[in-house]
Amino acid sequence: MASDFRTILVTSALPYANGALHLGHMLEQVQTDIWVRFQRSRGNHCLYLCADDAHGTAIMLSAEKAGITPEQQIARVKAEHLEDSTGFLIKFDNYHSTHSPENQYWSEHIFGQLQEAGHIGVREITQAYDASKGLFLADRFIKGSCPKCKSPDQYGDNCEACGATYTPADLIDPVSALSGTTPVDKASDHIFFELDHFGELLKTWTNSGSLQPAIRNKLQEWIDAGLQAWDISRDAPYFGFEIPGFPNKYFYVWLDAPIGYIASCQNYCEREGEDFNQYWLPGGDTELYHFIGKDIVNFHGLFWPAMLHSAGLRMPNAIYAHGFLTVDGTKMSKSRGTFIMAKTYLEHLDPEYLRYYFAAKLSSGVDDIDLNLTDFVQRVNSDLIGKVVNIASRCAGFLRKKFDNTLSATCSEPELVQHFIAAGEPLAALYEAREFNRAMRDIIALADRANQYIDDKKPWAMAKEEGREQEVHEVCSVGINLFRALMTYLKPVLPAMAARSENFLQVSLDWHALEGPLLQHELQPFEPLLQRVDPAAVEAMVEASKA
Ligand code: 2FM
Ligand code: ZN
Repeated sequence: MASDFRTILVTSALPYANGALHLGHMLEQVQTDIWVRFQRSRGNHCLYLCADDAHGTAIMLSAEKAGITPEQQIARVKAEHLEDSTGFLIKFDNYHSTHSPENQYWSEHIFGQLQEAGHIGVREITQAYDASKGLFLADRFIKGSCPKCKSPDQYGDNCEACGATYTPADLIDPVSALSGTTPVDKASDHIFFELDHFGELLKTWTNSGSLQPAIRNKLQEWIDAGLQAWDISRDAPYFGFEIPGFPNKYFYVWLDAPIGYIASCQNYCEREGEDFNQYWLPGGDTELYHFIGKDIVNFHGLFWPAMLHSAGLRMPNAIYAHGFLTVDGTKMSKSRGTFIMAKTYLEHLDPEYLRYYFAAKLSSGVDDIDLNLTDFVQRVNSDLIGKVVNIASRCAGFLRKKFDNTLSATCSEPELVQHFIAAGEPLAALYEAREFNRAMRDIIALADRANQYIDDKKPWAMAKEEGREQEVHEVCSVGINLFRALMTYLKPVLPAMAARSENFLQVSLDWHALEGPLLQHELQPFEPLLQRVDPAAVEAMVEASKA
């Protein structure tokens, strides 16, 4: 039976199993989670999948340094990541790992398909090698003096002192950052994915109309410049999956990372008894979206669709890239205490403050998002406490004291209530388009309107006058109905506050449940819905974040 409801698979980027989540990660997960919760509130079947990105040299080395196995490290980090995400009310349907049997199966399978179709090549390349450690060195593991300004101790790809970019071969007196020894050149065979076979496919995909303009332009630029074969192997020792038929060669972490989306989906479908094929075979009507940061657009916009297509799988409907998070106008900084870990935030502040603040700033674009800590306090207190919560708290007292906590049997302002309900469709369109900042602005404008209504009616004055009981009852009942509409629209952003409101209102706050005013409806006693942000708690968080 055809249904009006959509089936949508959504992912956010897989965090590396190599360190704790910070507020930059939370920006992305909050953006994704809001969109997913919105879809669910509209009745769509929307899966939100993620996983840890568990492979690569960095993870191998940090486990070694900690004196544990990579498996122990990734298990520990996965538990921490999940705790942080859960703390921010991120509701994954599944959180898996790229170091999993499903991911090994799909990595080997997709590689096999690419190979069969003639898209895999083998070529010898020469790279820097740390002979004492027995490891090939990625650029960031080589240090030396900048060829331009001669500053010592600069990494292999760019100079922090003068900003020059170069290759490790240009460094003066290069040494391995792992051992301090001088790297030697060493040749070995690498396996390549021949991306240039996919120029036409990627051109069509890029211009399909569903990508953000900035992303489409970037992809177009890369395609026009000529696509290069992609090196998808790394030599042992490496923490990852060995490539079938190529002993001692491993899939590069970025080859199996996005395949982790598929692995997480399979793991979910097997657990929940859902049809996996509907999500990944072409030609169906399910939708697939990847939320990512703008720094990893090449992987998701070029390699990934090409791999999927040539393995006979569906391509994404779109990738949704966001900008970077800055704090107080600059890059997050450990010395200023603005490199804030998710856990540190949660030790001091309510996650919904930040969910709201991010929503108030996020658009469909790729501009950077600034968390201005003074504005954060002001904005959350003014919008959520001063405007939204205020509507309910002003009305709830009268209803409890004088009217048995029950709403009036008739609605004295049907047009006003209807105006709030009618706002649902344009607000839904804004959510759908990821224009959360405009949605928040319009919701807060409605809250202003509701407060204005109560200010005009002055139920507190009426209550003192004889014979105006019924009016007081109706004004407060209208206020509660307006609050109900607002909380329905805020629920994707503020799920916990919405749950407390649902308990107070005794209704479920879903878009489709919002049809007309609640009449003669009994409420539960009003409990505080959200505390004010305490600026001292923000200061304490910054102090605790100073390295
Ligand atoms: O940039 C990163 O943090 C990567 N771990 C993201 C991987 S996303 C996907 F491809 F798995
Ligand atoms: Zn320099």
